Amino acid sequence: MDFDKVAKLRHSVRHFSTRKVDWRDIMKAIDLARLAPLAGNIPTLKFLIISDEEKISRLAEASQQEFISEARFVVVVCSTHDQLTRSYDERGLKYSKQQAGAAIQNFLLKLTELGLATCWIGAFSDEEVKRILQISDDVEVEALFPIGYELGKGKQKPKPLLEQCVYFNTWKNKYMEPWKDPRGSKT
Ligand SMILES: Cc1cc2nc3c(=O)[nH]c(=O)nc-3n(C[C@H](O)[C@H](O)[C@H](O)COP(=O)(O)O)c2cc1C
Repeated sequence: MDFDKVAKLRHSVRHFSTRKVDWRDIMKAIDLARLAPLAGNIPTLKFLIISDEEKISRLAEASQQEFISEARFVVVVCSTHDQLTRSYDERGLKYSKQQAGAAIQNFLLKLTELGLATCWIGAFSDEEVKRILQISDDVEVEALFPIGYELGKGKQKPKPLLEQCVYFNTWKNKYMEPWKDPRGSKT
């Protein structure tokens, strides 16, 4: 599918049908997620694929978002930043979050291309999720992704216009100077 089309089609889905999901499609999306840029090319991310129904309903409870229990799978994205912070000190924490976001966007776009649906879940009890999945304290749980096929047909929420997102040369300058040839070309 054309890249622009996938980026525009992606949207958060909170109602899933009963159609079975092939876990190998989820592997394809993770395969794309791992190609995202990494600070110093240091990997930090792990993707836990949860298929156990009881665990999924406990994750829904830990997030207080009931719709999660409708999903066939939940992917839990986790980071371990010790190697990054060893290399970059405190800045490593920032890099860890940024590379998680970059990988997640690849993951979301590939799921969209495959016709699968999800919703980025950032609101959950870290302690509860770690307890349910036996995740150790040194691991950061970044987000949960309940995955299924969409029930109905939603669309992406409106996003800021291009001109609301861009400044030129100085902060808050909304206008691009006409281009001047540095060699003083007369054409
Ligand atoms: C960091 C982050 C955390 C989010 N957490 C939740 C969440 O806990 N529950 C939820 O239903 N949606 C959550 N969302 C999804 C947003 O609500 C959704 O992306 C936004 O409304 C825009 O809709 P769209 O994804 O369809 O463009 C989260 C999104 C992001 C990026």
